[in-house]
Amino acid sequence: MEAFNYRDGQLFAEGVALSAIAERFGTPTYVYSRAHIQACYRAYADALAGMPHLVCFAVKANSNLGVLNLLARLGAGFDIVSRGELERVLAAGGKAERIVFSGVGKTRDDMRRALEVGVHCFNVESIEELERLQQVAAELGARAPVSLRVNPDVDAGTHPYISTGLKENKFGIAIAEAEAAYGRAAELPNLEVIGVDCHIGSQLTSMAPFLDALDRLLGLIDRLAERGIGIRHLDLGGGLGVRYRDEQPPQPGDYIRAVRERLAGRELGLVFEPGRSIVANAGVLLTKVEYLKHTEHKDFAIVDAAMNDLIRPALYDAWMDVVAVQPRTGEPRCYDLVGPICETGDFLGKDRELVLAEGDLLAVRSAGAYGFVMSSNYNTRGRAAEVLVDGAATFEVRRRETLEELYAGESLLPE
Ligand code: LLP
Repeated sequence: MEAFNYRDGQLFAEGVALSAIAERFGTPTYVYSRAHIQACYRAYADALAGMPHLVCFAVKANSNLGVLNLLARLGAGFDIVSRGELERVLAAGGKAERIVFSGVGKTRDDMRRALEVGVHCFNVESIEELERLQQVAAELGARAPVSLRVNPDVDAGTHPYISTGLKENKFGIAIAEAEAAYGRAAELPNLEVIGVDCHIGSQLTSMAPFLDALDRLLGLIDRLAERGIGIRHLDLGGGLGVRYRDEQPPQPGDYIRAVRERLAGRELGLVFEPGRSIVANAGVLLTKVEYLKHTEHKDFAIVDAAMNDLIRPALYDAWMDVVAVQPRTGEPRCYDLVGPICETGDFLGKDRELVLAEGDLLAVRSAGAYGFVMSSNYNTRGRAAEVLVDGAATFEVRRRETLEELYAGESLLPE
């Protein structure tokens, strides 16, 4: 589905004109579509109907309380990687028993709290973590449900910074060592082995690496069964790509059907941890043109959103579509769309053909995932507002940060 469409010469989020949102909430502002998030979540949940499953939204992709609350109401589970994400999910009405806890650096405190609230599963990333979890669970007199995150050594064919399933990555336990690690986990009295987990990377645009990883994990599950270690669920992580420009990623339904075919005859539940494919195209970053600056070599549109608001172009050289909210007629010029931050890397897009005037509104598309969550206060800029649109209604799900808040926790030196 497409939640952001032009009508009467201007871009709408569902039933609300983005120009009206800019007027009411100012810019820069992230705008999300409830219907889009719902449709993407359901594409996963519907394809998994009739078998034990959890669709655990990867909170790191968009951790706004309103977004999490919407997903919790739809019955989603959550994939978390920190104590902070755990508290957010609980505050948003998420159920502890639908949480999987990933991440290579879980602290004792993280573990304790997750055991207290009763998460569904710890995705354990090393033998050292296994031993620590055993200790913490024993102290609490609890039994910790675990999966080991196995690194299947497949090339996800994606950006090196977001590729995680190769053996040189810091993530998971090498598949060659996984059997021994499971043997150890099964010996530890305060752990209960329930699953096998992997996550091979993000923004994958083909199914082959997922299925390759799946085959390797099924082989492992068979070898574990021979050792008497039963596995109840297989967690395939997140990673399904989205269309930013002209990518043709598989649809969640097609991907899940292919996975289910390979599971035929097995009694295995499935867990997925999608982030981007649920929220990326459900969001735009709304920004205003402050200046048009024409130099001998380049035309710049200086906008009021910057790399502190949306770092993907600067960090990954990611291409994100930028469109005019109320397109003008006229001769387009080729603009670099840059922010006010004092860095050459502060750009949202380069060489974009647009007809612009000062004060125009632009929308950076596909900004619902890894947008606001990666924003910072660099250059002492307050973080953007976040707004969720539902039909003709608009909810401010995070107000714009005030300048006072930016240094509220700081202090002057004593006299
Ligand atoms: N599960 C685990 C263990 C992960 O590490 C990730 C993402 C996900 C699930 C969700 O993956 P997704 O479905 O969103 O691809 N900041 C980067 C993306 C980093 C992804 C990190 N891990 C970006 O802006 O492209």
